[in-house]
Amino acid sequence: MEVLIIRGGKPLNGEVRVGGAKNASLPIIAASLLAPGSSSIEDVPHLNDIDTMCGVLSSLGAKVSRSPNAVAVDASDISSVEPPYELVRAMRASFLVMGPLLARTGRARISLPGGCAIGSRPIDLHLKGLAALGAEIDMGYGQIEARAARLTGARVYLDFPSVGATENIMMAAVLASGMTLVENAAEEPEVVDLANFLNSMGARVRGAGTNILRIDGVTELEPACHMVIPDRIEAGTLMVAAAMTRGSLVIDNVVDEHLKPITAKLREAGVSVEERDDGSIYVEMRQRPAGIDIKTMPYPGFPTDLQAQFMALTSISSGSSVITETVFENRFMHVSELARMGASIKIDGRAAMIEGQPGLSGAQVRCTDLRAGAALVLAGLVASGETVVSDVYHVDRGYERLEEKLARAGADIRRVTESEVEKAV
Ligand code: EPZ
Repeated sequence: MEVLIIRGGKPLNGEVRVGGAKNASLPIIAASLLAPGSSSIEDVPHLNDIDTMCGVLSSLGAKVSRSPNAVAVDASDISSVEPPYELVRAMRASFLVMGPLLARTGRARISLPGGCAIGSRPIDLHLKGLAALGAEIDMGYGQIEARAARLTGARVYLDFPSVGATENIMMAAVLASGMTLVENAAEEPEVVDLANFLNSMGARVRGAGTNILRIDGVTELEPACHMVIPDRIEAGTLMVAAAMTRGSLVIDNVVDEHLKPITAKLREAGVSVEERDDGSIYVEMRQRPAGIDIKTMPYPGFPTDLQAQFMALTSISSGSSVITETVFENRFMHVSELARMGASIKIDGRAAMIEGQPGLSGAQVRCTDLRAGAALVLAGLVASGETVVSDVYHVDRGYERLEEKLARAGADIRRVTESEVEKAV
């Protein structure tokens, strides 16, 4: 097991580049199952979750080849409709093959994706949509089996604008006969990127990015090439890192529109954010941030995937802040670890009250989930003394060598194996 050792107090300066979006890459790789032939997907981040999704596709008979930041999938021959339990168990997003498998082969048999640290993560809305399209769904022994000779277009209302459910239903509907209307659909940029990939395969998806999707089914799709959008959550994480360390950072490869709530909240905290016309954003901060209130919401609201990182920011603010998590029921696992570094945070149901402190102190902390881990790294960048972050595999699920990007911008951070820790500290 590896750990990150961070000596805090170094401002970040210089330039970093954001990679392709993990949460766009995963559904797009799954969507390549919809067409026989070879699709290629570029600017895919090199992450454990991408490895898992590629493993799922290989287990179904697709031929997957990888280069550092690209994935090619030849889905000519689908020899199985049942990905192995251990892969589905490893990553909830594996469930995104349900829609494409059903559309392409008429069958899919997938283990129920378990919950995870941030919540129970049900899939009722995915199943509601697939059933509306005519799939017969049986559940038992921890498995879900879906069958449909051919799916038929339908009207689907999502009780919650679920990103995954919107994506699974969209990928099933593109080969259904007739028109599908998805109401209260998720509007996230990653949903739009998936729709763009599907349309480049010959699908007819309209309204992506709004809360009403219209999909006119076609009889077949062609493989396609696609460049994934930049990862807005990685970009936001790097923006917070620059703000917390009172540095000045140019962050390349961003889409300003996708960062609106993050830019707005950083400006409220007193951070200078300059959107440049060359696809980069410049972040500068010279004083303690002001306290700010945040409420996570589905896009275009403030993203839940940046809640933990902003909690690290507000823990060193000059005032008090309230952060309300409305998307997941248990996404405050980072609070107790931040408190061990001196943060003053009280939780009351879905709300966390943060009293900003003049500083944090280094400690041994443990990642509990992907974004909580990122928040602990950010806290370590400003804490006095040394912070040792363990269970770093959580961070590696969503960030490609985060410590290398931060070190290149001036942070004192390095990755060592746990056995080397005694020598290193
Ligand atoms: C996607 O997860 C992202 N993952 C998550 O990012 C992100 O936090 C989330 O969307 C919200 O933006 C990927 O895209 C791979 P949801 P997803 O379905 O699709 C409830 C990260 O850190 N719900 O929009 O699983 C659910 O319980 C990860 O990169 C149902 O009730 O999220 C949750 O409370 C973490 N029934 C809420 O909706 C359903 O059938 C949001 O879930 C589906 C979801």
